[in-house]
Amino acid sequence: MTALDKALVAPKNLNEDELAKMLASTDEGLWREIFAAAREVKAKCGKTEVLPRGLIECSNVCAKNCLYCGIRKGNDKTVRYRMPEEDVLGCINEVRRRGYPAVAFQAGEIEGEANTAYYERHIAMCRGLEVTLSLGEQTEEVYRRWKDAGAMRYLIRIETSNRELYAKIHPAECSFERRLGCIRMLKRLGYVTGSGVMIGLPGQTIDDLAHDIVFYGDENLDMVGMGPYVAHPDSLMPDSRYQLPTTNYQLSLRMIALTRLYLWNVNIVAATALEALDPENGRRRGIDAGANVIMPNLTPEKFRVEYDLYPGKVKT
Ligand code: 5AD
Ligand code: SF4
Repeated sequence: MTALDKALVAPKNLNEDELAKMLASTDEGLWREIFAAAREVKAKCGKTEVLPRGLIECSNVCAKNCLYCGIRKGNDKTVRYRMPEEDVLGCINEVRRRGYPAVAFQAGEIEGEANTAYYERHIAMCRGLEVTLSLGEQTEEVYRRWKDAGAMRYLIRIETSNRELYAKIHPAECSFERRLGCIRMLKRLGYVTGSGVMIGLPGQTIDDLAHDIVFYGDENLDMVGMGPYVAHPDSLMPDSRYQLPTTNYQLSLRMIALTRLYLWNVNIVAATALEALDPENGRRRGIDAGANVIMPNLTPEKFRVEYDLYPGKVKT
């Protein structure tokens, strides 16, 4: 039986080695089969329908300095904003007008009472909508308060499941252990929990990416959101590069397909960064590769231009 046949028998029926071998393949014919198999599994799990979640980037204020990120604290070219409540309400109304069932609040990572209360108020404005949060590392108390306010999902990317690579792309004060602890805490608190990685980071290998997929399974994630790494001109990243078999864009589509084949019944987001690299087709190709969630960006333009995580993200 080939690895691909095995993958179609049951979830988690591939090991890390098999995932790495598939990921390293340059056989276009094999990749066509893998993408078709990912769609087959998606249909088998009843996930053919594309689920929209209206994305609101509430603030680009961030206390962290992740080396790769355009809105990291130390980038003084970024003009900081926090959306006034009436603008947030306008976005929520747009979600309702479009008939989307769900809204997602995303922002730079900050902690503190004012921040906690700001999102409690937003969540309270969302009656009848499902609320996803993407607000980074917080204390258990804060996650609990947002859950009590009505939030049901939380997305927090681990960025890479390789601890050494994590340490290379973050300043010393960022802790892999704390981030992983947050993912586990969110699960324990009953959030529908999602995580994911960046694909094609300098220093990242195929084995790292195969391990990321196994990590998603080991942590029992309900959702996966991952996308290509895109170098930002104001980043502090080391520029050492390993030879990956294809572009970050192609590799991201392949990661989506293999994640679908490995986990089967999860929600996978067709990441915005796919669109940054392929504005015409990125989203659709993510769906064709096995994703089933899209997050159309509803942030008003005047704020959106400052939510500049990576080049190509902000479309004008
Ligand atoms: N390229 C791709 N994704 C990035 N992110 C931040 N910077 C970049 C970049 N240069 C992603 C991270 C983070 C999310 C907010 O944006 O995965 O979790
Ligand atoms: Fe802040 Fe997130 Fe960017 Fe890190 S990746 S600097 S936490 S917005």
